Amino acid sequence: MEPRKILNVLGSPRKKGNSALLAKEVAAGAQSAGALVETFNLQKMQIAPCVACDGCRKKKATGCVVQDDMQLLYPKILAADALVIASPVYWFAVSAQTKAFIDRWYALNKIPGTLAGKKLGIVLAYADADAFISGAVNALRMFQDISAYLGTEIEGMVYGQAAKAGEIAGNAGVMAEARALGVKLAGAQTDSL
Ligand SMILES: Cc1cc2nc3c(=O)[nH]c(=O)nc-3n(C[C@H](O)[C@H](O)[C@H](O)COP(=O)(O)O)c2cc1C
Repeated sequence: MEPRKILNVLGSPRKKGNSALLAKEVAAGAQSAGALVETFNLQKMQIAPCVACDGCRKKKATGCVVQDDMQLLYPKILAADALVIASPVYWFAVSAQTKAFIDRWYALNKIPGTLAGKKLGIVLAYADADAFISGAVNALRMFQDISAYLGTEIEGMVYGQAAKAGEIAGNAGVMAEARALGVKLAGAQTDSL
């Protein structure tokens, strides 16, 4: 069997932040199970919000007409078997970087079903007491709705509380969940999720 291709997308401006750390653990789990993982940090990329020009919907259009770093990511998204999306919870939702990235999937959906069958791994970090008070549930629900709409499959959602960058490393439980999600996304069996 071909190794699975996993696109690991970091949506936090903090390079060594909590969501990035969890995503790194997902990647490590996936690689340990034989998957090929490529990681991109949205903060380092130029990704404009969707401007609703509908250029991608023109008859002859072959994709998004906005020329920025999304043009690098579109083929990677299409080639990937699984996407890991890691975001901090900002204002009871995902970060602006993450949302701009997702909004630009509009171009991929010119042909409905283009992303169907891909696996998703969702990773979130938040500072407040729990997933409800922090608003992480809103982000999780957003991903559930997106996934149902696109026909993708959420393989796991890993989320944990931490405020300072890197603090999540002290939460052994959520770090183990992240690693197990990686193994699962790679197509290997795991009984811990
Ligand atoms: C602009 C901004 C908005 C935030 N909004 C929330 C929020 O709504 N709920 C929450 O629990 N934490 C919120 N936080 C805290 C972050 O979610 C928390 O520090 C998290 O660990 C950041 O993840 P990161 O290290 O991956 O960037 C916010 C932080 C910032 C900078």
